[in-house]
Amino acid sequence: MNIDQCPIGVFDSGLGGISVLKELSRLMPSENYIYFGDTKNAPYGDKTDEEIRELSEKCLEFLVSKGVKAIVIACNTATSVSADYLRKKYDIPIVGIEPALKPAASNHPDGNILIMATPVTLKKDKFASLNAKYGNNAKITPLPCPGLAEIIEKGCIDKDEIKTYLKNLFKPYESKKISAIVLGCTHYPHIENEIRESFDYDVKIYDGSLGTAKETLRRLDEVGILNKSENHGTVEFFSSESGNEETEIMKKFFSI
Ligand code: DGL
Repeated sequence: MNIDQCPIGVFDSGLGGISVLKELSRLMPSENYIYFGDTKNAPYGDKTDEEIRELSEKCLEFLVSKGVKAIVIACNTATSVSADYLRKKYDIPIVGIEPALKPAASNHPDGNILIMATPVTLKKDKFASLNAKYGNNAKITPLPCPGLAEIIEKGCIDKDEIKTYLKNLFKPYESKKISAIVLGCTHYPHIENEIRESFDYDVKIYDGSLGTAKETLRRLDEVGILNKSENHGTVEFFSSESGNEETEIMKKFFSI
């Protein structure tokens, strides 16, 4: 098989990266994809760097064993901790995701911007350097969301539980006018409507999926391995959890 016809491997700690997979397949519909959710070890957001690095490497090795031509780390937490390490060790294009602070701050230069992400993502250098580079005059507030990815990871989203979580999360900002929210964890686009409905005015929401998909296209093109087929590609789902239940939930999230 020509390398350009090989699939793109996409991984996350669980269901989150499906928000990125959707954007990838919208932008590059003729590509084939293999999605791996490390459901057994989710969430990553409260693990140590060493654990996250080890788990990310296992995800990558699983995808490489399936013959992928490139890797997309569809997890902000795993990107922050492991992307540089994996790029040094593996000779395969590796694209990561980062909180979409750049477009948010450039569209709301003096605004109040909340960055929702896992505690790990917000503690890492990657976030600090994004903030220093693009934050400008905007008032950027990091908003760690411990436990939120776990609620979403259950697959069947309990609206009341999410609403209560978000109500408590946004309570300290009730008296401020929030201009934009950055979804710095790939699980959160799955509850974008609930986040929007937490405000009684229009709040712009940004996430990094489209940027990641565009960067993947750019990288594949750069190394000459874009799939030029006219046909629609395939998508396969795998989970580190045994049984079909997890992959069925992934398919459901992909089709929404
Ligand atoms: N979806 C992941 C992210 O983008 C992390 C969720 C988790 O496993 O804590 O950060």
